[in-house]
Amino acid sequence: MNKQKFQSMIDEFTVNQEELQQISAAFRRDIEMGLVDEQTSSLRMLKSYVGLPAGDEQGEFLALDFGGTNIRVLRIKLHGHGQFEILKKVAKPLRVQGIYDFIDAQAKAEDLFDFIAGLVDEAIDENHEQEFLLGHTFSFPSEQTNLYNAKLIIWTKEFATKGVEGQVVNDLLSEALVRNGVGNVRPTAVINDTVAVLLAAAYKQSSTYIGSIYATGHNTCYLEPYKGEAKARMIINLESGAFNKIAPNTYDKILDEQSEKPNEQRLEKMVSGRYLGVLFGLVIANGFGASNKSYDFTSIDLSAILSDETTALDDVKKIMEVKLERTILQEECEWVRALAEAIVVRSARLVAATFAGIIWHLDGDTVRKQHIAVDGSLYEKMPLCVESIQKALYDILGEQASALDTVLENGGSGLGAAIASAIEPVT
Ligand code: BGC
Repeated sequence: MNKQKFQSMIDEFTVNQEELQQISAAFRRDIEMGLVDEQTSSLRMLKSYVGLPAGDEQGEFLALDFGGTNIRVLRIKLHGHGQFEILKKVAKPLRVQGIYDFIDAQAKAEDLFDFIAGLVDEAIDENHEQEFLLGHTFSFPSEQTNLYNAKLIIWTKEFATKGVEGQVVNDLLSEALVRNGVGNVRPTAVINDTVAVLLAAAYKQSSTYIGSIYATGHNTCYLEPYKGEAKARMIINLESGAFNKIAPNTYDKILDEQSEKPNEQRLEKMVSGRYLGVLFGLVIANGFGASNKSYDFTSIDLSAILSDETTALDDVKKIMEVKLERTILQEECEWVRALAEAIVVRSARLVAATFAGIIWHLDGDTVRKQHIAVDGSLYEKMPLCVESIQKALYDILGEQASALDTVLENGGSGLGAAIASAIEPVT
């Protein structure tokens, strides 16, 4: 393998300033077309039936956070004034290799929701006397008709449990709670995790209108003002991971074809943690002359590769030699690292381009001073992500980007679910 060949593969992951601006403009167009008619946009534009919190919401609530391979149930007390307290937290994985798996194509809805009901029971210390209201952060594309009623449109993030798509998820949950003797817990609100992040961030500080998840999956929501229309402001879950106006490169195409749901979630497959390691593995297989092989890398490997500060890139060498089962030269370690950097930086730049598209829709050419709330392991922990988002915002918006401040809203899914239970719905 030679350096030029490797470099040309890396080049497939670069997005220049002009391309970024075009992506932002296309994203804005998809929002504006989607507001008129969702069928004409690749964004799902899902209504959440909530606006922003006032910050004075109070009370004790259960919060179910269902969106990744780990499921969490929390008991949260809201004190108002942006203050809250976590009284109890239980968490379990939905899949333990060789033991159980509630999210693969063999798993059934009943078993999955029975497992969740068990966790809820733990969170309330098996107290079956008191009534509890439960806010549910369900982080998959769902069609809502009100704050309670959300029907799963399609699984994402490679989830595949049978019998959930097309169903009202809170009904499946309520039935499981009753079956398991926990009928005193009443699911009230269901929201997407991006909505939860926005609610949680806005509960603590005003001037926050955009909430995003940058983790295993990716998605963004924002507060739609319905300018010039007599409609109450409402948070719209864009399902931006489904955005499909970015030209895929060779590896994006292969990844998509091999995924659970080809043609769906095209942006998510370019940017989110579930897929970055897979993309990296595809390029490595091609680069190291074994394109018939697949290498199992994860975004945690990418993070380790980018965090290697040794001069000889010892960690990179170790990771690669274990996966490829052969000796890796120092020069090759450098290419590998450059590839990891290109994949992660492209991801962050594309995410930033979608933020800029929303800002253009909301503010036009005069960007208001505001925070953009983001939660997720990539934003929090992946080297290069935060600074690449900021740089890309400047590339797209110029000096106007100085009005924007992206903030980490850690653990927003739980707090947001509790706020959604406490808040007045928008009808
Ligand atoms: C889902 C979104 C979710 C995002 C982040 C995506 O796969 O479609 O609903 O917000 O992941 O968890």
